[in-house]
Amino acid sequence: MQRMVSGMRSTGKLHLGHYLGVIDNWLKLQNEYECYFFIADWHALTTKYDKTENLKQDVLEVAMDWLACGIDPNKATIYVQSQVPEIAELHIYLSMITPQNWVERDPTLKDMAKILKSKDGMASQINYGLMGYPVLMSADIMMFNADFVPVGIDQVAHVELTRDITRRFNNIYNTDFFHEAQPKLNECSLICGLDGNKMGKSFNNDIKISDTAEVTAKKVMSAITDRSRMRKDDPGHPEDCEVAFKYWKIFGTEEEVETVKCECEKGARGCADCKRQLGAKINERFAEIRERRRYYEEHPEVVKQILEDGAKKARVEAQKVLKEVRNLIGMY
Ligand code: TRP
Ligand code: SF4
Repeated sequence: MQRMVSGMRSTGKLHLGHYLGVIDNWLKLQNEYECYFFIADWHALTTKYDKTENLKQDVLEVAMDWLACGIDPNKATIYVQSQVPEIAELHIYLSMITPQNWVERDPTLKDMAKILKSKDGMASQINYGLMGYPVLMSADIMMFNADFVPVGIDQVAHVELTRDITRRFNNIYNTDFFHEAQPKLNECSLICGLDGNKMGKSFNNDIKISDTAEVTAKKVMSAITDRSRMRKDDPGHPEDCEVAFKYWKIFGTEEEVETVKCECEKGARGCADCKRQLGAKINERFAEIRERRRYYEEHPEVVKQILEDGAKKARVEAQKVLKEVRNLIGMY
């Protein structure tokens, strides 16, 4: 079976963007590939090295969301990056062969530097570890000699760099040991935030997988609609309804979307009612997931055990690869 590796930074509770954009894909992939899914806590540390008080909890929250959504430890290997220290050793070897300008031209890194700068006003303070972000990612991927890496479009450049590093390694050490991992773009319904911008934790415009039905309903009521509409019997323009109608298209059946569209255009549907229905629809979709999540919240020891078992399994594979790598390089 072909191998797949993918990770998510440990950012705490996940939102519907993560669910629709990433997890939903993984649910399918775990049936078709040998999957390694991990929580990238070292990557989180590249920017949050001085704010670590929630790090442990953030890792657990991500794990609980994955498990609740149906990522299955009997199908995929799920683990925490830092519990597989072999990755750090591979990262060292890769860092030896990666030219500095390869990481300097990394577009995501440039964006991150900009964000850091705007947040802290620090004159593009980039630490050595952050500089190595894409090399560490290459280690994540090469650690299991992956064939594919399911990612969003924003991460493709990183996978391309991984391919460059792979080729360079194979060249230098005269081997064909490492496979050139290919990016596999997630098929996703992009969901915007409640305000119409990109959904994100720090923008305060997200709905969490773990939000209660009440909180979700309330948040949905704040979603932006057709701004030109003043009264409930004004004819509406679903295509200009910036958020609510978009959500309908994601969560409603074709029939429901058609009904919403017709009624809205005729002025036979008020936005408040429309969003009440929408909230209920979203809650229906996540009811089971949230129930499962509550179980894990009440049994964190189960979650920790799953992660520990996953790391154990991952390390067996990682050690095989590392042994070969040390041998190829000629380490003592
Ligand atoms: N950088 C990725 C992100 O921010 C997370 C990640 C870390 C990753 N290592 C990876 C993704 C390896 C795929 C493969 O989303
Ligand atoms: Fe949007 Fe529904 Fe209001 Fe129409 S009725 S503008 S679809 S929220």
